[in-house]
Amino acid sequence: MAQGLDAQAIRRGLDTRVVGRALEVHALIDSTNARAVAQARAGAPEGLVVLAEEQTAGRGRLGRRWYAPRGSALLMSLLFRPPLAPMEAQRITMVCSLAVVRAVMEVCELEARIKWPNDIVLADAKLGGLLTELGSTGGVLDYVVVGIGLNVNVDVAQIPELMAPATSLSAEWGRPVSRPDLLIAFLQHADDLYLRLQGGWSPRVAWRDALTTLGREVVVGTPEETLQGVAEDVDDDGALLVRTGDGALRRVMAGDVTLRGHYPGRDSTA
Ligand code: BTN
Repeated sequence: MAQGLDAQAIRRGLDTRVVGRALEVHALIDSTNARAVAQARAGAPEGLVVLAEEQTAGRGRLGRRWYAPRGSALLMSLLFRPPLAPMEAQRITMVCSLAVVRAVMEVCELEARIKWPNDIVLADAKLGGLLTELGSTGGVLDYVVVGIGLNVNVDVAQIPELMAPATSLSAEWGRPVSRPDLLIAFLQHADDLYLRLQGGWSPRVAWRDALTTLGREVVVGTPEETLQGVAEDVDDDGALLVRTGDGALRRVMAGDVTLRGHYPGRDSTA
């Protein structure tokens, strides 16, 4: 029997300054992102965490859907109100993906990595993903909602809709994972990194070290074009710097990456 998420127990386990100040746990919801965005627009303070055991309309990147069997994943959205410009909002997503990687290492001793821009992977199979939605007025961010879906005790064979090779923590670890322990570890790391960001720290170097994408040949689909080259680096705002065949270094802020090289015969799109 899967351990349920209990708001009071989670709050008791937390020692954070911002993240988790307010916390909602829903048995069933359309989308935690939709709820967190609605709360943001209604004036909720930053630090709100919306969790759900099941979603009926989970949102994925690029207009896709996100599926997870009830009670087996971590499905959540975090609300931030950072004093940043909209172009800098990816820094918040970087903090959250780093916090996921650190929590997975702490609880399961597994080295999850980040596939640019917002996938969490283990051995090149997708473990989770992040979807950030933001609101701004006059060049200033009103809110950033970071939605995270993480396959914890998911049997990925139960999700026929998956478009890419996927995995779960329990599959990789060989036993069930405590979702409350993982959640609390994640929220602690997210709070710690967010406070550091507010103090002027850049997540770039730590994030770059956690990326699986760099040094590899990539094909990047952006809203405007498809680029091919070697992923060389990322900048402070999380943009990918791709060296193309003509020697130019191209900066890509948003897109979908297909990895090539280093793993012959195993391309993956997630
Ligand atoms: C991706 O496409 O990889 C990002 C998926 C993000 C899914 C999560 S599940 C919790 C939160 N609520 C949503 O509706 N989407 C995000």
